[in-house]
Amino acid sequence: MNIMEVDTVRLDEKKKAVVIIDQTRLPGQIEFLELKNAEEIWRAIYLLQVRGAPAIGVCAALGLYVLAEQIKEEDYEAFWARLKKVSDYLNSSRPTAVNLSWALERMERCLEIYHFNGGEDDRAGWLFCLHEEALKIYAEDIAVCRRLGEYGMSLIRDGDGILTHCNAGKLAAVRYGTATAPIYVGMEAGNHYRVFCDETRPLLQGARLTAFELQAAGVDTTLICDNMSASVMKRGWVDAVFVGCDRVAANGDTANKIGTSVLAAVARQYKIPVYVVAPTSTIDMRTASGDDIVIEERKPEEVTEMWYSERMAPEGIKVYNPAFDVTDHSLIAGIVTEYGIARAPYAESFRDIFARKEAC
Ligand code: MRU
Repeated sequence: MNIMEVDTVRLDEKKKAVVIIDQTRLPGQIEFLELKNAEEIWRAIYLLQVRGAPAIGVCAALGLYVLAEQIKEEDYEAFWARLKKVSDYLNSSRPTAVNLSWALERMERCLEIYHFNGGEDDRAGWLFCLHEEALKIYAEDIAVCRRLGEYGMSLIRDGDGILTHCNAGKLAAVRYGTATAPIYVGMEAGNHYRVFCDETRPLLQGARLTAFELQAAGVDTTLICDNMSASVMKRGWVDAVFVGCDRVAANGDTANKIGTSVLAAVARQYKIPVYVVAPTSTIDMRTASGDDIVIEERKPEEVTEMWYSERMAPEGIKVYNPAFDVTDHSLIAGIVTEYGIARAPYAESFRDIFARKEAC
């Protein structure tokens, strides 16, 4: 099976389940998980069986619909209270990617609006509304990522070398991914790129996932360790750095996988532009700057063991394991959204982007 031909996350209508590719088993095995209850969905997000900001958002939206089907209350207040409780629970699975709360809030809001506007104001009507909104979030992800690809492609030329970090590919969304979308859309137009992917310690999303999906898509891909980026940049092999992100603050500061800020600082040294590719759902105008972004800290074992198997560090060693870091907006050449490319000063540029979105 070619991983490029299946959705990372989708709804199985018959089984009333969210179906995901279990990303902890890649690249060795392509296995699917059917998520049917709140604990399974929470764990899948927490354990990174489904991961990447857009994919987490889609999984949560589809998941909330699946869980709403299990709420039997016919009274709106009681139905709403149960749904809100389960939504808050899913939202507690990971703190940094804003797409999680964005998708859940969108689901909640759509139900509230539906209820207050009348319509079929019964359980069947509420479920219909949640079903439609969840599928809309899923379909939008595909369309939005494609548009990210079209805008991002304008920043590179045929034959360019692109460096990426972590996995902001199709495995982090439903189909095209974010940072990889310009590569995939460019290839559809007949272009070819040389892509370097960082292995991305500690959880190796670059080695296990990005290298895997780019290879499956037929992209000229070279895997490097995280500490090799300066070497490939110095040799002139990299024309642009493309990364995804988990949350963009109103001033353009960007949280992404740990190591992104180091990469951006090195790229600045070699005068290589760094582009963040992100749907507007990842831009959080309620967060003023990167200092206000909550950074997830994860288990020490992710650092002391190589992909949960062989121990590489002494027992009892102190470990600091933040999953993300914040890249200062001054190191970012542009933030590619589905409504155009934002540039510094970002607060102003985002206002234009959101105005364009409102107008559509
Ligand atoms: O911990 P992960 O694997 O969920 O981290 C993912 C990233 O950092 C991605 O770059 C980010 O979510 C953007 S995905 C389009």
